[in-house]
Amino acid sequence: MDTKRVPTGIIGLDDIFQGGLLPNRSYLVGGDAGTGKTTACMQFLLTGLTQGEKAIFVTVDERPAEILQSATSLNWDLQKYVQEKSLVILDASPYFSGRAGAAGEKNVDLTRIISDLSGYAKRMNATRVAIDPITPLFFSSDSTVHVQENARLLIHLIQAHLTTTNLLAAQMPSRSNHDPTGSIEEFVASGVIILKLAPSNGQFQRTLSIKKMRGTAVQPAELPFRIVTDKGLVLDAQDHQPIVVQESVVQPLEFFELPKQNK
Ligand SMILES: Nc1ncnc2c1ncn2[C@@H]1O[C@H](COP(=O)(O)OP(=O)(O)OP(=O)(O)O)[C@@H](O)[C@H]1O
Ligand SMILES: [Mg+2]
Repeated sequence: MDTKRVPTGIIGLDDIFQGGLLPNRSYLVGGDAGTGKTTACMQFLLTGLTQGEKAIFVTVDERPAEILQSATSLNWDLQKYVQEKSLVILDASPYFSGRAGAAGEKNVDLTRIISDLSGYAKRMNATRVAIDPITPLFFSSDSTVHVQENARLLIHLIQAHLTTTNLLAAQMPSRSNHDPTGSIEEFVASGVIILKLAPSNGQFQRTLSIKKMRGTAVQPAELPFRIVTDKGLVLDAQDHQPIVVQESVVQPLEFFELPKQNK
């Protein structure tokens, strides 16, 4: 079984994840406005691009030019990768306006979006995909379709049709630290990272918590981080000790013999 990890590029976090994310799975990065979701998505793709991988960024609320501009504010040259065709930025807004589908189309056709995305990913041999944000894709003008059903359907479609490792940004209003309730997409995803911005001593403190990470031993913790030019999200150096999972040493069954008695 391939257990090679896919690094996120977030300094400090990959140690905690024993190298990174598990490949071919979908992870959520959730948080309120301005908490760093888009930065985390760009960082995740850039980490692959700098290692010679191919990547796709699906932008839903911002135009591709705005994504490139945000990257520039971090001193990241995504344009270079777009030019050399190792990065494709797909603008999902046509799916909302009906331009991409039949005339008068109002509903977001999730099957269509994912089949188009899967086509792109296969043609360019992409290994990483970011969708930023996925939350608007859950809503449908058809009142008979439940938001929760759409969320589940979307993540299942991604898992079934994409062979890439996927980081999905989810808009989540800040909840109390004591509220562990999760929405359906959090249950379906392989891992959930929550970003927060909380007032602390008259300033704002950014924190990252790993709410869930299937297949990885992580202690629940709220870890302070900063957003830094050139590096993006960086966990404050403190307790990011990797949690070492002891490989169980398989002992063959041994026949037990009683010690010989000296006569
Ligand atoms: N070079 C930088 N150094 C420090 N902070 C930066 C830098 N560049 C951008 N930022 C900040 O990073 C913050 C996070 O932005 P980001 O776009 O990743 O958040 P977001 O969660 O995607 O927000 P939204 O929900 O509005 O899309 C912004 O407030 C921005 O000011
Ligand atoms: Mg954003």
